[in-house]
Amino acid sequence: MQAALNIIGEDLINVELQFRKDLESDVPLIRKVGEYVLSSGGKRVRPALLLLAARLCGYRGDQAVPLASVVEFIHTATLLHDDVVDSATLRRGLASANTLWGNEASVLVGDFLFSKSFSLMVGVGSLDILRVLSSATTVIAEGEVMQLLCTGEMNLLEERYVEVVRSKTAILMSAACEAGAILGNATPGQQKAMADFGMSLGIAFQLMDDTLDYIATEEDFGKSIGHDLEEGKITLPLIHTLRHCSADERSIIEAVVEKDEMTLEDFRQVSGLVLQYGGITYTVDAARRNIHECQTHLEQFENTPVRVALHELAEYVVTRNR
Ligand code: IPE
Ligand code: IPE
Ligand code: MG
Ligand code: MG
Repeated sequence: MQAALNIIGEDLINVELQFRKDLESDVPLIRKVGEYVLSSGGKRVRPALLLLAARLCGYRGDQAVPLASVVEFIHTATLLHDDVVDSATLRRGLASANTLWGNEASVLVGDFLFSKSFSLMVGVGSLDILRVLSSATTVIAEGEVMQLLCTGEMNLLEERYVEVVRSKTAILMSAACEAGAILGNATPGQQKAMADFGMSLGIAFQLMDDTLDYIATEEDFGKSIGHDLEEGKITLPLIHTLRHCSADERSIIEAVVEKDEMTLEDFRQVSGLVLQYGGITYTVDAARRNIHECQTHLEQFENTPVRVALHELAEYVVTRNR
C-alpha cells in the first residue's frame, strides 16, 4: 500500500475532509451515525482505486476527490444495511451502528448516504460516471438479495456463489476503477481494462474476506470470526469442503448451518473440517488467480509509478489480514 500512499496520500486526506462536508445534515442523528461509521477506520480501498485509476489515465483535475468520497459513501451505506441483514455486532473493531443505535437508525442513515451519494454524483456532472455508479448500486442490492436467497443452501454451486460475490462486492470496485478511467478520458478499451481490473480484484477481495471469516483473529479483522457460518452463509471455503467431506461430516456441518446460535465448539469443528479438506487453500488460490488476472489488465497502460501502485494494491488484497 505504501506506493499508493506516496501518490494519493494527500488526496485521501482530502477525501476524509470531503466526507465530513458531505455528511452535513440538519438531523443530528444522521451526522452522529454517519460520523461514527465514516471515522471508524475503514481501509478506503474503493476511494484509493478511483484515485489511482484516474491518475493512471492522466487525470489531474479536481473531481477525483469528491467522486472518491461518493464511492466511500455508497460503500458505507451498504455496510450499514449489510450489518442489519447479517445481525453483525462488530465492524472495524467497534460496536456496529445497529448495535448502538438499532436497526431502524442504521437502515435510515444508510438510505441517507445512498441518496446523498446520488446528488453528489450529479454534482460531478458526467452522465457516463452517473450511469456506471448508479448501475453498480442496483447490482449491489441484487447481490445482497441473491445472497439472502442462498442462505443455508447446502448445495450452493461455486458459480452461483461467484455471481453473488461479483454483484455484492466486486461491482463497486469495478465501478470505482471505471469511473476513474472515465474522468481521465481514457479510451473505451482502457475504460474496459480498468473495469475488468476492478472486477477481478473485487472478487479476490471478497474471497479473502470469506477466508478471513474462518481464519483471522477478531482483533486484526475487526469483525466477528465465524460469523458467516453462524448466519448460514455458505462461502467458498465451505462449498469446497462440502464437495469433499463424507456424508456424516456433511450432516455435522448442516446441523451447525441450521442452528440459530453457534457455539465455539461448533465453529471449531466445522473450521477444522474446512482446513482438513483444503477449503482455505482452495479459496486463497482462487483469490490469487483473480489477482493475477486483474494485474494483466494493467499491461494496457504505460509502466509508471501509478501502475506499480495499482499492482501492489492488488497484492495487498491477497495478503491482508483485516
Ligand atoms: C467490507 O469491505 C465489505 C466487503 C466487501 C467484504 P472492506 O473490507 O473494504 O471494509 P472497510 O471499509 O475497510 O471497513
Ligand atoms: C459484504 O459482504 C457485501 C456488502 C457490503 C454489500 P459481507 O457480509 O461478507 O461483508 P462483511 O463481512 O459484513 O464486511
Ligand atoms: Mg456482512
Ligand atoms: Mg464477510
